[in-house]
Amino acid sequence: MKKLLLPLLFLASTFGCAQESPAFQWRGCMIDVSRHYFPMSFLEKQVDVLAGMGINRLHLHLVDAAGWRMEIKAYPSLTTNTAWRTESDWDKWWVGEDRRYCSQDAPGAYGGYYTQEELRKLVGYAASKGITIVPEIEMPGHSEEVIAAMPQLNCQPEKHVKLTPKGKAVGGHVGTMNNTGDVCPGNEAVYEFFQNVLLEVMDVFPSEYIHIGGDEAGKANWDSCARCKELKRKLGTSDKEALQAYLIRRMTRWLNQQGRKVIAWDEVVEGLKNKAVDIPVSSDSLTIMLWRNPATAREAIGMEHDVIMAPSAYCYLDYYQDAPQTQPRAIGGFLPLSRVYAFDPYEEMTPEEQKHVLGVQGNLWTEYIETPEHAEYMLYPRMLAIAEIGKLGANRPSWDTFRKQALKTLKRLRKQGVNAFDLAHEEGPRPESRQPVEHKAVGAKVLYNKPYSPHYVAAGETTLTDGLRGDYSHGDRRWQGFVTGDCLDVVVDLGQLTDIKEVSLDFMQNSGAWIYLPASLLISASADGENYLTLVEETTARKTNVGTEFRRYSWHGKLSGIRYVRVQGTATGEGEWLFTDEIIVR
Ligand code: ACM
Ligand code: ZN
Repeated sequence: MKKLLLPLLFLASTFGCAQESPAFQWRGCMIDVSRHYFPMSFLEKQVDVLAGMGINRLHLHLVDAAGWRMEIKAYPSLTTNTAWRTESDWDKWWVGEDRRYCSQDAPGAYGGYYTQEELRKLVGYAASKGITIVPEIEMPGHSEEVIAAMPQLNCQPEKHVKLTPKGKAVGGHVGTMNNTGDVCPGNEAVYEFFQNVLLEVMDVFPSEYIHIGGDEAGKANWDSCARCKELKRKLGTSDKEALQAYLIRRMTRWLNQQGRKVIAWDEVVEGLKNKAVDIPVSSDSLTIMLWRNPATAREAIGMEHDVIMAPSAYCYLDYYQDAPQTQPRAIGGFLPLSRVYAFDPYEEMTPEEQKHVLGVQGNLWTEYIETPEHAEYMLYPRMLAIAEIGKLGANRPSWDTFRKQALKTLKRLRKQGVNAFDLAHEEGPRPESRQPVEHKAVGAKVLYNKPYSPHYVAAGETTLTDGLRGDYSHGDRRWQGFVTGDCLDVVVDLGQLTDIKEVSLDFMQNSGAWIYLPASLLISASADGENYLTLVEETTARKTNVGTEFRRYSWHGKLSGIRYVRVQGTATGEGEWLFTDEIIVR
């Protein structure tokens, strides 16, 4: 097994290896090797670095739409057909019209997979460093690559893959994508497939836990598919959610019979409550990996399940760690080291509930992370913070002390060839967000002709006139979200006739998060709330492939006797978002 040139044991002096009884038994790091393939040498190196800081689980997101990464002897087509794709750039490939997989020898083929032999070696090496490798095999969603390789597992096999006939290969293409990435839960062949895959997975990975995904299934075909309808009839339900519950519970029970415990993403908590499915799943056989709202962890704990806390707001290492304009393109969000370090895995939990928290995990999704160097840049130092929380919990040092230690450790890591983020030159939060802004509309009532999204309420009806500007993340509770079509229409009531010389507001964009500038924006002003004078009327061309950016729309002039300021905006497509934080009137 290849080693780093210099041992990383020095880390033990600053960020000690797991102490006698660490605060949490699960101190994890997830690396998504599907969206981008990373060489085995990279994974070995991360084992060294992570072990040095006291991480004891490396969760590999081995399979997803972007490529199947593990050799499966029973189904060679998974790797011959869907471990390579035609384009490395995420936006060009995923968002593009002609998303295709290809064979390894196709011109420009991008991807790769790990042989079982290689994975076995990694498992052994990691074990020698105190790290368990936890494999994840996703189901039933995020499975585009599975149904491209094995179209018979799709609800509508005949509609799915256009296999390019052999000998007529266009650049070696073997298949295009369906519009849904879910396997068919009504098809027995799906269970046979995953069980055969998992038999090989278990043979390679001795981990007590096997992760089976369970997140973000679109279920688009599960109402129209004959097999799905038949399964619903047997279950006595018309609810397609029951099909997800059925699949997860059946696979969990099967894995338990093989002597393994299961981890799944928090979506499966819904399925545990589903009364249509009577497949028993004991609480200690299924652990929930929390990635969305921490409140769901308490729900799972209420049903006696253990949880691993990895909420995106604190643990998603694919988010920007510093001012976006200074950083490589990221998927969105804003998660500086200080915020990771502020994470409390026990937030709002009673002491009884806390007993069910196995631990914490940092997750590195890699849509926009193409190289090992970039992956390290996103992992470190933020994994140091996760490790510290995992080892010491609430007894960890103050932020100031931690930051000083982290700076020293980063210096050493860099000397060892780890491409860590330059914490010493961090810019920090968005300047506009650092102090309140004074203007004439602060405290003014806002009338919503169209509602804001219940998912991004920020501070509710006071958001746009509370004097508080947003940070770099649309999820920071200062940015308010509006979704789909003519979604933004608000009127600020200044309360009395007012002289104005400026109206301005910012919008955020990040195409990876489906956040765009307003396709059209209208700002108008009125004395009586009926007759409006147009101040700004502007259309903005939709930019694709753009990281987090901001744009201010403003009017400057001179008007007297204005009481109402109206802002109307359009987000063109279904599921496209507008985010704004404050309507400034001067
Ligand atoms: C996830 O981020 N979809 C688990
Ligand atoms: Zn189906």
